[in-house]
Amino acid sequence: MQLLDGKKAGQAIREEIRLQVAQRLSEGKKQPHLAAILIGHNGASATYVGAKVKACEEAGILSTLLHYESDLPEHTLLEKIESLNNDPDIDGILVQLPLPKHIRESAVIHAIEPSKDVDGFHPVNQGLLMQGQPGFIPATPYGIQLLLQHYQIETAGKEAVVIGRSNIVGRPMSVLLSQPGPVGNCTVTLCHSKTTDLAGHIRRADIVVAALGQPDFVQANMIKPGAVVIDVGITRVENPTKKSGFELKGDVDYTNVSPLCNWITPVPGGVGPMTIAALLKNTLQACQQKDT
Ligand code: GUN
Repeated sequence: MQLLDGKKAGQAIREEIRLQVAQRLSEGKKQPHLAAILIGHNGASATYVGAKVKACEEAGILSTLLHYESDLPEHTLLEKIESLNNDPDIDGILVQLPLPKHIRESAVIHAIEPSKDVDGFHPVNQGLLMQGQPGFIPATPYGIQLLLQHYQIETAGKEAVVIGRSNIVGRPMSVLLSQPGPVGNCTVTLCHSKTTDLAGHIRRADIVVAALGQPDFVQANMIKPGAVVIDVGITRVENPTKKSGFELKGDVDYTNVSPLCNWITPVPGGVGPMTIAALLKNTLQACQQKDT
């Protein structure tokens, strides 16, 4: 078993970005600038946004964190997004999900100018991805693609099973793995809550991407020996022995599955850090697109 170490690979990518940003500045070009919007006091969301802002700072990317109370009216958020859309200094905009119930996620995603949509959630970017054209790829599947690339995992002709059909992870991941080109050319099965014989599908897979958000769901008896296993899950599970009061659990039963695998991501330290590296890549790309 070998580790797909997202911390290490993510650091290498972030260092590349740092050098590219430094090069831009030495050429008198614009410094990339990300605006991150956080609403309310969800502990996990605050941690993720904090990590994104810190990673920007380390890579030389400017970031502005806008933190609002959970009773922020939807129209106020939409107006804020509009002003960021029109602000030439802002290259990328992200609104951390999930949102409070009274704010429509789709209205917010549609409001972000596609050329600043570094999360790749806008239908324009999702449509470009579907067609294999350049655009912003959502950070989690993009990060997984970069991780497979970093470790030179052969994907062509392989059976890939993606578990979970979210717009953020599962669906775009299935498109990336099936498209022609590097880290693609897989035969992809996209499984979900209504899939019959899910274990049977997973057992046939050379590459498994688990993105359903159920701790320890993927068990050893579902895994084909030698598989590559990517664990996107990162659920907070109460654990009074931990200082924080919780531990982070992946969707894969790592203890029992890892001995069977050729490659596996740990949780934490697998997909999470790659998501951040991918966001930084998208933010730099958004800035580069404005160069004349
Ligand atoms: N919530 C969970 N994942 C993500 C992500 O990649 N981007 C944003 N904005 N919110 C999220």
